[in-house]
Amino acid sequence: MASKPITAVIIGAGHRSMCYARHALRHPDEFKIVAVADPNPHRRASAAKIHDIPADMCFETAEELASRPKFADAAINGTMDRLHIPTSLPLLKAGYHLLLEKPIAPSAADVLLLQETAQKYGRTVMICHVLRYAPFYAAIRQRVADGEIGDLVSVQTQENVSYHHMAVGFIRGKWRIEDESNSMLMAKCCHDTDLIAWMKSGITPKKVASFGSLMQFKPENAPEGSGKRCLVDCKIEETCPYSAKKNYIEQGLWGMYAWESVEHLNLDTEGKLESLRTDNPFGRCVWQCDNDVVDHQAVIVEFEDGSTATHNMVGGTSRPGRWIHLIGTTGEIQGDIRDGFFVVRHMDARAGHEYSEEKIDVTGSEDGHGGGDGRLAADFAHIMAGKEHSISTTSLEDSVYGHLIGFTADDSRRQGRVIEIKT
Ligand SMILES: NC(=O)c1ccc[n+]([C@@H]2O[C@H](COP(=O)([O-])OP(=O)(O)OC[C@H]3O[C@@H](n4cnc5c(N)ncnc54)[C@H](O)[C@@H]3O)[C@@H](O)[C@H]2O)c1
Repeated sequence: MASKPITAVIIGAGHRSMCYARHALRHPDEFKIVAVADPNPHRRASAAKIHDIPADMCFETAEELASRPKFADAAINGTMDRLHIPTSLPLLKAGYHLLLEKPIAPSAADVLLLQETAQKYGRTVMICHVLRYAPFYAAIRQRVADGEIGDLVSVQTQENVSYHHMAVGFIRGKWRIEDESNSMLMAKCCHDTDLIAWMKSGITPKKVASFGSLMQFKPENAPEGSGKRCLVDCKIEETCPYSAKKNYIEQGLWGMYAWESVEHLNLDTEGKLESLRTDNPFGRCVWQCDNDVVDHQAVIVEFEDGSTATHNMVGGTSRPGRWIHLIGTTGEIQGDIRDGFFVVRHMDARAGHEYSEEKIDVTGSEDGHGGGDGRLAADFAHIMAGKEHSISTTSLEDSVYGHLIGFTADDSRRQGRVIEIKT
């Protein structure tokens, strides 16, 4: 007899929740969306239409949904950063297991509160560290776990955010003000600090140091001829790589963010240009926004076994990408997720040789985050169904070290000193 699908509710029918919920459309036998909560009527209606949710299963808030007796197995919580804790606590209490977006919360105390609440009510909380599921990182982790390069001595990661992603997310966009969302390190690179902790699984991070600042994107650096809005008073729009018209219309990048405020209007190009000229926050000059998050940051970590890790986040790069270089006692692994392959090297001390190199192809899929988004949703459905955990599974407990590295790095950056991680 076929088993019944796992039932789930969408909390916050935004970009992220809707992307994970797609698993229900691809595998209706495994996963079914039965309700939605979102104060935005357009998004609520759109989610209801896509997942065939009846009107009495559409709620305005997570809190309202959680006040009903439990009616589904799990909740996909894709609300914005500062709402993760206030929306998750009532859901855990009401009986739902959770798939929760990262960063878990803006402070270590909040992460701990969530962990305690999940433990108290016996709920599973999985964090959306989608990169663990990208075939690129999953294959690297498997090789490390198999001992192919020995014990890790040095873990080096770098995220090159790119000029257009920096502008849309961290200068003009939703993650530009730390007190309203998170630090840029937590918002963008809690994935990388998680990957570092995951690669070192079982070894505790002990000390962290970090430097970084908002160096580029502030009014005193505005180039001559720039204005307040690209399409209103800027004389250098035609040559500026941050031009809103170029990024969001001509290059066609980041429409999901740039047109968020008008997404229900289905604007044509002229309508979009008018929106950028008038009240769309994404029409602002990148040197004239109210952003306060850093635009570059470097992090160093020491682990209890004496090994070290570094992470570099650079906002305004030309080419986006994530690099990783792991150096173990007997070999090394190096790659850039955008290249679709990584290499494993071993020493080769024979005369005429120096090292061996094996190239491993890991092409992802059309899914976001190098194929990680769809795989994470599938793993969540499997775990909810009582199936085995995968190598990538991101339980809350397992995600804490990566977050602690990030919080401590930000404390170090602000305080200008090396800080011990409290575990
Ligand atoms: N895993 C990743 O790689 C990744 C990538 C991008 C963003 N994120 C994170 O995902 C989260 C969501 O980002 P997004 O861009 O999808 O956000 P979004 O703004 O598109 O969606 C959030 C939705 O939550 C709704 N909402 C607000 N209050 C609510 C409440 N009380 N109850 C229910 N719904 C409520 C909003 O109306 C909105 O539709 C953020 O925390 C973000 O940092 C993760």
